[in-house]
Amino acid sequence: MHREIAKGVYYVGVDDHHTELFEGQWALPFGISYNTYLIVDDKIAVIETVKEAWTDEWLDNIREVVDPAKIDYIILNHMEPDHTGALPHIAKIAKNATIVYTKRASQFQKSFFNVDLPEKIVEDLEELSLGSKTLKFVHAPFLHWPETMMTYLVEDEILFSCDAFGAFGALNGNIFDDEIDMRMVESESKRYVSAIITSYFKFVQRGIQKVKDLGIGIKVIAPSHGPIYRKDPMWIVNKYAEWSSSELDKYCAIIYGTMYGFNHRVAMKLKKTLQERGVKVIIHNVSTSEASRVLTDAVRAGVIVLGTPTYDAYPFPRVWHFVNEIQCKRFSKRPIGLFGTYGWGGGGVKKLHKWLTDMGFEILEPIVRVHGRPTDTEEKALSDLADAIVARLK
Ligand code: FEO
Repeated sequence: MHREIAKGVYYVGVDDHHTELFEGQWALPFGISYNTYLIVDDKIAVIETVKEAWTDEWLDNIREVVDPAKIDYIILNHMEPDHTGALPHIAKIAKNATIVYTKRASQFQKSFFNVDLPEKIVEDLEELSLGSKTLKFVHAPFLHWPETMMTYLVEDEILFSCDAFGAFGALNGNIFDDEIDMRMVESESKRYVSAIITSYFKFVQRGIQKVKDLGIGIKVIAPSHGPIYRKDPMWIVNKYAEWSSSELDKYCAIIYGTMYGFNHRVAMKLKKTLQERGVKVIIHNVSTSEASRVLTDAVRAGVIVLGTPTYDAYPFPRVWHFVNEIQCKRFSKRPIGLFGTYGWGGGGVKKLHKWLTDMGFEILEPIVRVHGRPTDTEEKALSDLADAIVARLK
């Protein structure tokens, strides 16, 4: 399948309804698209390739427009294999093509694939003429890899933004924002940002500012995943700016683990107490909530509360994993509340307290420790913790 975006500019991407976990981690209930674009001018350029298993379908899409052997430039905005896996295959067909990318991308390419085509290393804001159309390359380091760039089609005012402004969800032939249910797009792009790009929020902000400072017109934003924005390209830019902002939202996320329901009871009691005091609460059981959904709902929470049983003298493994995400995803600092049930030693909460303190997080008092099955005696401590949370969210 191909679709024309502007005269001589075509979408030739593919949908992936097969991969269950993106990056081996994040659920894809609606699939994902690998967007690539073909520009046919005096010279022919393709922007990005696809994940390797989709090579044949992608080449068929290109063949609907041109013979892939005639491609002059393979533009690689980003070297992650969901966009470059097909490179060794197209290289055997487009034997006269030149690979266009940043210096760092060239280093990655040689270590990932070692494709022996001529290459053109482009500097920031360098231009490349295709005849009547001009490509301008905008370096966007750490959005979300260090070698990343965006490509701007000057005459048509199309920004090929790579992973930035992307979304989970296959397109199923409806590639434009005016053809898709935007409630779904909002949910899946927010989940995509939270799972993939949270560690690089400051680079998202920098990238947005850099494009704005260029003063270029943007009629269309064409990312490498998810819909193409032609009706309202600024919608997704503004959403990304909001989601990557350092300002946190005024709600509490309770993230807890439970084996036999004791910790669940504490979590529900705290949720009820907070809601009675007018606090918005989002709650996840780490054993039943999908990991990217937990991340999405926690990353902007003004206060996070973690609840863990003690398991082999450590926190419940799935809670421990979430704490690892807090660290790896470089969650901005905010108060964290803790509660936990235990049978004898209570190492779960103790270790969470130490790890989070070492990471620089403020731990709210009181820490609620429950020996065995929770009883009414814990109510006072939970009420005091709720008071502390309310005070911090004012
Ligand atoms: Fe879609 Fe960072 O690759």
